[in-house]
Amino acid sequence: MRLANRAAVLTGAANGIGAATARRFSEEGASVVVADLDEAAGTALVSEIVETGGKAVFANCDVSERADLEAAFDLCSSRFGRFDILFNNAAVQDTRGILDTTDEDFDTLVRVNLRSVFIGIRETARRMIDHGNGGSIINTSSTFAIVGSPGYAAYHTTKGGVSSLTRAAAIGLMEHGIRVNAICPGTIDTPGLRLGAANTSADPEAAMRSYLSLQPMKRLGTPKEIANTVLFLASDEASFVTGENLVADGGYTVV
Ligand SMILES: NC(=O)c1ccc[n+]([C@@H]2O[C@H](COP(=O)([O-])OP(=O)(O)OC[C@H]3O[C@@H](n4cnc5c(N)ncnc54)[C@H](O)[C@@H]3O)[C@@H](O)[C@H]2O)c1
Repeated sequence: MRLANRAAVLTGAANGIGAATARRFSEEGASVVVADLDEAAGTALVSEIVETGGKAVFANCDVSERADLEAAFDLCSSRFGRFDILFNNAAVQDTRGILDTTDEDFDTLVRVNLRSVFIGIRETARRMIDHGNGGSIINTSSTFAIVGSPGYAAYHTTKGGVSSLTRAAAIGLMEHGIRVNAICPGTIDTPGLRLGAANTSADPEAAMRSYLSLQPMKRLGTPKEIANTVLFLASDEASFVTGENLVADGGYTVV
């Protein structure tokens, strides 16, 4: 098993990409802290993992609150005796373009999507250094860190920040045996994507079809396909990989 005896915290893990990654980590032997605002879905996922023989615990966590993040990290150490992997994944979308985005909208997105990643890396690194085993931190960025679009002005800003912070943190934490990488998913069929379609169009199914029409592979990605890339970066198979922004987008950014 690729994550035998490892313990991980995953934020935004109750649904979508985070939930798929919690399942994959557990299948590969990791104990997981499912950290999320959505208690109903998060506790259901924990039950599912435990029923299939895994080790999991739910942490009620709003990533925009440093105390919540720290509590989730400390829960990992106290419950599982280790803290080896952080998946900094929780984020919210704001589909508005630059002319329609207020200062308050911008501040909210930065606090949830970017400040949380900064604090998450810093507080995790402090704990990993204390444990003395090194570790692996994976941040969820986006193809929207690479290409532009007419909307999502604040979201683009935060994901560009996540990708850049990933490189800086990778260099800063290298001497402590901590690797820091990011994934840049393309268009992945999750509850979050479907919510975005519902928020931007009177006809959400038509919006989903328009996303599909932009895909070189003529299909959307699945949460499990992203989870597999996160698993690689979390595992020792990626021992020489740090500061990388791994794009998993079915070719979206290369055509
Ligand atoms: N789905 C895509 O097409 C896509 C593409 C590129 C990047 N991403 C990124 O992937 C990540 C996961 O997206 P998803 O599509 O699985 O989303 P999702 O909406 O399906 O799931 C996100 C989870 O994060 C949780 N969450 C939201 N705000 C939170 C907060 N403040 N504190 C704690 N938890 C919070 C939600 O409760 C939910 O469980 C995000 O960082 C997103 O920006 C998604």
